[in-house]
Amino acid sequence: MNNATKPEDSSEFTPLLGKSFLTPIYDPIITLVTREKRWRRQIVEHLHLAPGDRVIDVGCGTGSLLQAMFSDCPQAHFVGVDPDASALRISRRKLGAIANLIRWHKGFLESLELPAGWQPNKIVSSLVLHQVPLRKKQAILETIESLLVPGGTVLISDYMKLDSPLMRSLFRATVQSLDGISDTQPSADGEVEKLFAEIFTEPCLLHRFPTVTGTISLWRGYKKGIAQ
Ligand SMILES: C[S@@+](CC[C@H](N)C(=O)[O-])C[C@H]1O[C@@H](n2cnc3c(N)ncnc32)[C@H](O)[C@@H]1O
Repeated sequence: MNNATKPEDSSEFTPLLGKSFLTPIYDPIITLVTREKRWRRQIVEHLHLAPGDRVIDVGCGTGSLLQAMFSDCPQAHFVGVDPDASALRISRRKLGAIANLIRWHKGFLESLELPAGWQPNKIVSSLVLHQVPLRKKQAILETIESLLVPGGTVLISDYMKLDSPLMRSLFRATVQSLDGISDTQPSADGEVEKLFAEIFTEPCLLHRFPTVTGTISLWRGYKKGIAQ
């Protein structure tokens, strides 16, 4: 199944819930079916945000994680990256005045241009990699690695290896019925963890959240080198 959409830059991406017409109900659906508050809170806690941190949210979607991170540390600097203009519109509306304090990039991470001297020390991404082809999963992780300062932190929260038959069945009945099989199956088979361990140092599985859509895992890694 191919649900890919063509944004203005004519590169392809999968809409938030697999189909564009479902985008307006993304937030209530995710709240309902993924125990969203728990896993987003864990991302924020493990980020240990501090004033002056430079943070990128890759595939920020409707901005829920940016909102949670900003609430935790308004003195950090945030960039939201997403190719979907309708998702970014929802983000801006939801974040209100805070949206003006965030830098937005409508496009893919690979085309992100950062101001001179602005190198991120923390990069997060949630529920993005399961929706992209295997080669793109690798490209996104490699780009994250190349952007980070030495010793910088990456946190990825997503559907990754699904061990139990129950979790695989739930994933098949929900996420895969919307997003299709070809991009999501490598994630369910554990390919993202393998790439993550090849690309980052000290890969660590921090949490697993069983949900009615499959298990969401939270992984942390670091760019090789000494922290600045
Ligand atoms: C399921 S949504 C997750 C949104 C948000 N991160 C969250 O936690 O709710 C996946 C998002 O990834 C974006 N996306 C898809 N392909 C992408 C890519 N190659 N690079 C960056 N974002 C991408 C989509 O536009 C969509 O907004």
